[in-house]
Amino acid sequence: MVAALAKPVFDPNQTINLGGPVFAEHKYDWYRWMLEEAPLCRGKISIIKLNMVARYEDCRMVLTDDRFVRNRGRARGKSNASPVPFPLPKSVSALARSMILEDNPEHRRLRNLVNKAFTPRAVERLSKRVEELSHELLDGIERQGRVDLLEAYARPVPTRVIAEMVGLSKEDVNQFKNSMRVLTEGMTGLALLQTLAWDLRRTGKFIRRLIAKKRGDPGDDILSALIDAEEEGDRLSEDELVAMVFLLIVGGFETTLHLITNGIRTLLEHPGQLERLRGNPDLWESAVEEIIRHRGPVHGTKLQYATEDVTLHGRTIKRGTPVMPLLAAANHDPRAFENPDDFDIARAPNRHLGFGLGMHFCLGAQLARMETRIALKNLVERNPNLRLAVAPSELELVSMAGWHRHASLPAVLG
Ligand code: HEM
Repeated sequence: MVAALAKPVFDPNQTINLGGPVFAEHKYDWYRWMLEEAPLCRGKISIIKLNMVARYEDCRMVLTDDRFVRNRGRARGKSNASPVPFPLPKSVSALARSMILEDNPEHRRLRNLVNKAFTPRAVERLSKRVEELSHELLDGIERQGRVDLLEAYARPVPTRVIAEMVGLSKEDVNQFKNSMRVLTEGMTGLALLQTLAWDLRRTGKFIRRLIAKKRGDPGDDILSALIDAEEEGDRLSEDELVAMVFLLIVGGFETTLHLITNGIRTLLEHPGQLERLRGNPDLWESAVEEIIRHRGPVHGTKLQYATEDVTLHGRTIKRGTPVMPLLAAANHDPRAFENPDDFDIARAPNRHLGFGLGMHFCLGAQLARMETRIALKNLVERNPNLRLAVAPSELELVSMAGWHRHASLPAVLG
């Protein structure tokens, strides 16, 4: 049962708590207001204060203009500063030095090396496994009738895909599942302290062991290809490999899980569109794009820092201060999309920002599209009477800054 929450207050001078339950529940009302009344406004995530831009063109600008960088030290003229605004224990700092927090030339170097491993062939090879896996899972849960599709279906698909991607053996899988749970549930509030003190260290050790094993016994998986990746005599160092594997796990798992969950809910709330899709399977690809635009899981990018004062809509983003482009708000900007609040599985063009933009554009976009399309298509084709087991207003959204995620998705199969 979802508790009644306070209503949002629309005041351009307030600091909006992006991690609070009121924001989680009313995000799209806030976005609508920001797009019209407060295109540059202030927010906070825990103790970090930030600027936020909502409009499509402003998000594009912040993600592609040289006046904004990822490394906060660089924005203040320091070189080689820590990418996070708080001190980290040495044993875990390698995990934080990943390319998503780097600027060029470091970013280009790391991205070129990982591109070598992340080939269309590697994604194609995984698609056969996703098909098998999705049918295997559906065989198991269809007998149960009512299930939580988030736990029983949307979670295991990407967990097992990542396990295959990094070539985990059967014994590794259980430990890997624990690491995933800790990393994804332990990133807020007090749990963050425990995460930093203990769990990240354990995960770092686990990844290092995995790399050592792969070095001795390489396979036809992306981790083996990453270890081998070489460009002009350059390779990933041990610490860079650890950071890259960590980024692939964190970047590829929760995102896909919640895209599948959001997709199921969205389709069930638009029965006309779902019928249209059942009669026109060719529309699946554009339907997945529209789900990402309409109810994508990632609502903001990592912070960008201004290297100089930048004035926008009569307000100034001060040098050295962070800005978050609100991708999900931009995806509902009427200046960029006709009838932006409509869910239209055949929308074209659909240049959404759900996978980000510019040099940090999602590395796993093709993989995520493929996983989501197969998982949703098999679910709805095999279950013509699929429905939510509770009223949509009963579904609980998780309060987590930058995300749109459900706590569970009870549904009845059949
Ligand atoms: C529904 C699924 C997904 C969504 C919505 C999504 C979204 C995003 C977004 C918005 C960014 C840009 C973040 C930023 O600029 O700060 C990004 C970057 C990234 N994503 Fe994804 N992602 C998804 C799936 C995946 C998968 C499956 C993988 C890999 C297995 C992956 C790996 C990455 C990596 C490595 C980056 C950083 C790229 C860079 O810094 O150059 N993502 N993703």
